[in-house]
Amino acid sequence: MKRLSGKHILLGITGGIAAYKAADLARRLREHGAEVRVVMTNGAKEFITPLTLQAVSGNPIHDDLLDTAAEAAMGHIELARWADAAVIAPASADSIARLAQGRADDLLTTLCLATPATILVAPAMNQQMWRDAATQQNIANLQQQGKIILGPAEGEQACGDVGPGRMLEPNDIAIAVAEQFQHQALTGKRVLITAGPTQEAIDPVRYLSNHSSGKMGFALATAAVEAGALVTLIAGPVAEQTPERVTRIDVVSAQQMLDNVIDNISGQDIFISVAAVADYRVAEVATHKIKKSADEMTLSFVKNPDILTEVCQRGDKPFVVGFAAETDNLIEHAKDKLIRKGCDMIVANDVAKQAQGFGSDDNAVTVVTTDAIQDIPLANKQQIARTLIETIAKAIKES
Ligand code: PMT
Repeated sequence: MKRLSGKHILLGITGGIAAYKAADLARRLREHGAEVRVVMTNGAKEFITPLTLQAVSGNPIHDDLLDTAAEAAMGHIELARWADAAVIAPASADSIARLAQGRADDLLTTLCLATPATILVAPAMNQQMWRDAATQQNIANLQQQGKIILGPAEGEQACGDVGPGRMLEPNDIAIAVAEQFQHQALTGKRVLITAGPTQEAIDPVRYLSNHSSGKMGFALATAAVEAGALVTLIAGPVAEQTPERVTRIDVVSAQQMLDNVIDNISGQDIFISVAAVADYRVAEVATHKIKKSADEMTLSFVKNPDILTEVCQRGDKPFVVGFAAETDNLIEHAKDKLIRKGCDMIVANDVAKQAQGFGSDDNAVTVVTTDAIQDIPLANKQQIARTLIETIAKAIKES
């Protein structure tokens, strides 16, 4: 499996002789499956051309905080949210100092403040500059802020000195980035996830459905695999690609989704019900295409089975996580669903908000249990999924 498959990696390049190795790093990250976007400081551009980085990353370079054309294509806040991880390589002594201070006077430092993603820093500088107390204090500050420091390596330097300060080799940095996405919180656990919409037939050519794209459910499947789980994903009709190492079962209607959940639920440790299951289906599906004749048409509906409730009522009930898509009174409705359906956890999302919820790349959710409420702020669905998987793993450990 490509360890960075589907991951969005922001590569920040600052001014230093090791900048020439950044092209190799971009290439290595892509070999590991990542999509790479490069941010260059003015200093970096003295050492390597934007054209080179554009060619190896396959994307236009970002280099200006106040460039209206670039902002129109992908604004800096959007770019900050897009990233699953940011790696600054090489990180010069000056860029480390500026990051440690929390400056926001160029694109790279601003992105580092604006991104919720993990930031990895690969220092590269002269050995005496590295040993200087000011640099060491800045590094300690970065670590305290939660940034991950990679290296530096020891050895012969471009200036002729020998000592610590060489940037780690590009492949070692790429592996360190990949390791950020692997953890063993759900090793050996079996996880069943439903995702996407269901389609309820009206006649042979028409159906009722909703705007679920499957992105949230598929992101959770990926995050669960990364956490070491064995994942089965029951998906309604969506265009998403099957994540690696996930067993996928495609269904169309709510009844088919229920049948497949029941067939697979035994032996599962966790059930995550992300699917936007249609609450009703047409009472009688027409066997022939309904002809346009009368000015009005009336359809009769019957209630679909509630898959989540059925799983919660089982004697062999796993740890059950439901979702709540709400347009008002988010927490109140989520608490009601938690108790009424009998789940262990409800993940509530406000689907009335622009650019989150149905179909979007981003989401913001609130995790509701009987004794706690935890907000997970706006981020891309992959990041939200990773945080949710960690939250679920923690809840199971504590239960
Ligand atoms: O797929 P995306 O475009 O990425 O969008 C993600 C999402 C908005 C669909 C997702 O985040 C989400 O909120 N999913 C739940 C949508 C929903 O149907 O919510 P609900 O409040 O109507 O249902 C509550 C819970 O009951 C859900 O866990 C749902 O899966 C489950 N349910 C509902 C009806 C039914 N007949 N059977 C069920 O199991």
